[in-house]
Amino acid sequence: MITVALTKGRLFKDFTDYLENNDLTQYIKPLSEETRSLYTVVDNVKFIFAKGPDVPTYVESGVADIGIAGSDIIAEDKFNILNVSQLPFGDCHFSVAGLPGQGEMKTIATKYTNVASKYFREKKMDVSLVHLNGSVELAPLLGLTDGIVDIVQTGNTLKDNGLIEYEKIMDIHARLIANKRTFYTKEDEIYKFLTEIGVF
Ligand code: PRP
Ligand code: MG
Repeated sequence: MITVALTKGRLFKDFTDYLENNDLTQYIKPLSEETRSLYTVVDNVKFIFAKGPDVPTYVESGVADIGIAGSDIIAEDKFNILNVSQLPFGDCHFSVAGLPGQGEMKTIATKYTNVASKYFREKKMDVSLVHLNGSVELAPLLGLTDGIVDIVQTGNTLKDNGLIEYEKIMDIHARLIANKRTFYTKEDEIYKFLTEIGVF
């Protein structure tokens, strides 16, 4: 049995779309069931459904052997994992955004304080960060901060809240990550699964 950590967020939809587009039907039904269960088993693969930032934590400890995580998560925190390869879905990017006509940004709200502070430090910009846990687009709308650093995928969340992108920070992709030990001790099972889903 191998354990695969997936996220419950939008990357989950990107992964199931990928399975559908590639006719990987054996996994689609069990992964799409309407249930509050946090795991499902298909043959000898156990899928667990975790919050995005927790996927590397499960993989690092070895209770999950491999995982699918956004590169945003890996950029934000350090994990002792194998960052195996880029996957062909989950593309989006980090941007600085705010209200149109916003002048110099002195305060920024974000879930990604490490990514944001590195970016502003490299640009030699003196910016104070406010950490929020989500829906960060509210911050400039309400005047909590001058702008945000956040993920942009379709751009709809910015558009629907009257915000615009000022600068792109970096591209984001889904990544295959693996436990440093079990990636080798369970090599055959992992390789079989990855081949089956067309990743290797
Ligand atoms: C993410 C991200 C943006 C939005 C980007 O939020 O933080 O708000 O998606 O996607 P879009 O460009 O396609 O609109 P999410 O809905 O995951 O929730 P959260 O910010 O509350 O965590
Ligand atoms: Mg959001």
